[in-house]
Parts: sequence; C-alpha cells; structure tokens
Amino acid sequence: MEEIARSERLIIRKFVQDDLSSFAEYRADPSNAEFQSWSDYTLEDAQALYDKMNAVPFGTEGHWFQLAIASTGSNQLMGDLAVHFIDKDQVEVGFTMAPEFQRKGIAAEALMLLLNFLFKDLNKHRVIAMTDARNEASRRLLEKVGFRKEAHFVDSIFFKGAWGSEFSYALLHSEWN
Ligand SMILES: CC(C)(COP(=O)(O)OP(=O)(O)OC[C@H]1O[C@@H](n2cnc3c(N)ncnc32)[C@H](O)[C@@H]1OP(=O)(O)O)[C@@H](O)C(=O)NCCC(=O)NCCS
Repeated sequence: MEEIARSERLIIRKFVQDDLSSFAEYRADPSNAEFQSWSDYTLEDAQALYDKMNAVPFGTEGHWFQLAIASTGSNQLMGDLAVHFIDKDQVEVGFTMAPEFQRKGIAAEALMLLLNFLFKDLNKHRVIAMTDARNEASRRLLEKVGFRKEAHFVDSIFFKGAWGSEFSYALLHSEWN
C-alpha cells in the first residue's frame, strides 16, 4: 500500500485492485454522477481507468491519477481524489465520496491532506479545480479549504445533453498554510 498522507481517521493512498468494486459502485450512483463526466459507470470502466493510471508513474505530467480515501481502521475505500499533473508546477484536483460517507467532513479533511502533500512535499505552485456551477457541495468544499473562485464560465460546456456553466477555482502555494 503506497501511502501519500494520513490523519487519525483516514489514509490517502494509491488505489489497489480490491478498491475497484466499491469505486465502480459509488461512481454508478446517479447522485454522484450528476455533475461528473460519466453515467452508468461499470466495473469494466473502473478496471480500464486503473490499468491506464498504472501504465505511467504517479506524477507524470499530462496524466490523471485517482488516490483512494480509505479508513485507517479497516482500510475501506470511502471516496477518492483525482489529481491531474498539468505541468511541472500546476495540478488540477477533483473528488468523489461514496454516498454513505458524505457530509461527515471527510472530503474536506482528505483534500487538505492532499493539498499539504502537493504544496509541501511536491512543492507545486498552484492547484486548480473546476466545478459545475450548480454543484453546491463541491463549491462549499472548495471554499471551505481555502480555494478562491477565479472565473465563472457561462454555458461553456455541452454536458449530458445541455449547455452548462462552470466555476474555476485556484489556490497558490503562497496562500497555503
Ligand atoms: C463534493 C463532495 C465530494 C463533498 O463531500 P463531503 O464528504 O460531503 O464533504 P464534507 O463533508 O467535507 O463537506 C464540505 C462542505 O460542503 C458542504 N456540503 C457537503 N455536501 C453538501 C450538499 N449536498 N449541499 C450543500 N452543502 C454540502 C458541507 O456542509 C461542508 O461545508 P460546511 O462545513 O461549511 O458546512 C460530495 O458531495 C460528492 O462526492 N459529490 C458527488 C461527486 C461530485 O460532484 N464531485 C465534485 C466534482 S467537481
């Protein structure tokens, strides 16, 4: 198990094969898919993503990686963080929690652990996040951990059959404590 960070109740670590069935299950939940790029997510989709992610070393520029948010006690997968290494200095992040683990402050704690890792361990300069303008949970989460809203793109993305708007958020290393 390759661990990235931990707190008293959770571990941020690389995905393992055994995570994939839970991962596919919570990605398939319609409430989780509403503002995400996927629908009807399957175990085959999860396997393909896992294989693609493992084909290059973690941190490779131009690639996305999923990190598991797991319970320290049971190592159970509770959610995930998505990390896109845009270039050598900038990173984009995303996040999804299994419905039964939402609204417990876990995503906020996990995102703070990830930001600490990106800024302090990897010395990244800037982290960004994009969210559907209707996704209140995502906006609240980003603002809670200190992201600044930098842009509101109106009807900028054709998404699940309709034009959608997005907010762009960012956080600089110099703003992170
Ligand atoms: C976004 C998501 C990861 C938040 O996870 P979470 O574990 O519920 O977040 P937390 O418990 O750490 O809460 C963070 C903040 O968001 C708020 N929040 C969480 N869910 C909310 C909801 N459904 N509506 C309004 N606010 C919400 C919390 O109240 C908290 O703010 P506060 O402490 O100021 O009250 C989760 O809702 C999710 O997985 N959504 C589906 C996937 C998705 O849309 N991801 C974002 C893609 S950009």
